[in-house]
Amino acid sequence: MSHEAQSHTPPDLRIESRNLKFQASDRAVRWWHGGDPIATAFFNALSALFPQGERFFIDSVKRYRTLAHPKLEKQIATFITQEALHTREHLAFNRLASERGYDLSEIDRFLTKRISFARSRPEREQLAATIALEHFTAILAHELLRDPRYLDGVPTEIQQLWRWHAIEEIEHKGVAFDTFLAATKDISGLRRWFIRSYVMVITTILFFHEVGYGVSRFFRQDGINTPKTWLRFLHYLLVRPGMLRRVIASYFTYYRPGFHPWHVDDRPLISMYEPQLAL
Ligand SMILES: [Fe+2]
Ligand SMILES: [Fe+2]
Repeated sequence: MSHEAQSHTPPDLRIESRNLKFQASDRAVRWWHGGDPIATAFFNALSALFPQGERFFIDSVKRYRTLAHPKLEKQIATFITQEALHTREHLAFNRLASERGYDLSEIDRFLTKRISFARSRPEREQLAATIALEHFTAILAHELLRDPRYLDGVPTEIQQLWRWHAIEEIEHKGVAFDTFLAATKDISGLRRWFIRSYVMVITTILFFHEVGYGVSRFFRQDGINTPKTWLRFLHYLLVRPGMLRRVIASYFTYYRPGFHPWHVDDRPLISMYEPQLAL
């Protein structure tokens, strides 16, 4: 387990925050995802989670800033700026959902409770929950960029928002993880592996519950919260386009001793999409 403590962040990695401002066009209708209430609910539910979730990530990483070496400290600063800008833009996106008739207050209240539970846990566990969720965002971001079909039928400015977010999630995917390595450098590799693994198990259950809760609120407000809709939703996640099925293998790599997010270097996906961002 000695390699459990090693960072594999590329030495030449560049992380930068891009000040994207999301502007909705008239095409942003209620079911903005190609007229499909299922896909729309999935992305809306994720977006509803981000503002509170990302503030939690920022706080759990920030308190370990002083333990980081200077390069990591700089990366933490950029990580904070990136997550703060994601929050700002997803709040704008969520306001648009409200304008189109959805009430997000129940989801917000549910999340506030969840996050205050998370904040009641020891600080090291909060950081472990952050690296678990950052693994989710990194593998989902990778998948979203890998296959452009996930955003087929989506208005360009909304595609831009999600691709911008995905690019930056990939860029900073090692920052919280390296902070966790610094924060746990005095404990054994076995213990570190154990902490991040059991926290990942709990975080996975809570994350699925949160997404499921969010999606159910959108289905309910669309008057389609029926078993048939949920079957279609499962089909959407697992069969076509099957985003969840396609990230399962990457998800499980997290449990390998010595795992590091940068064992997968997905910077080519960033280079592919970055020139298309209208900033
Ligand atoms: Fe983010
Ligand atoms: Fe992130």
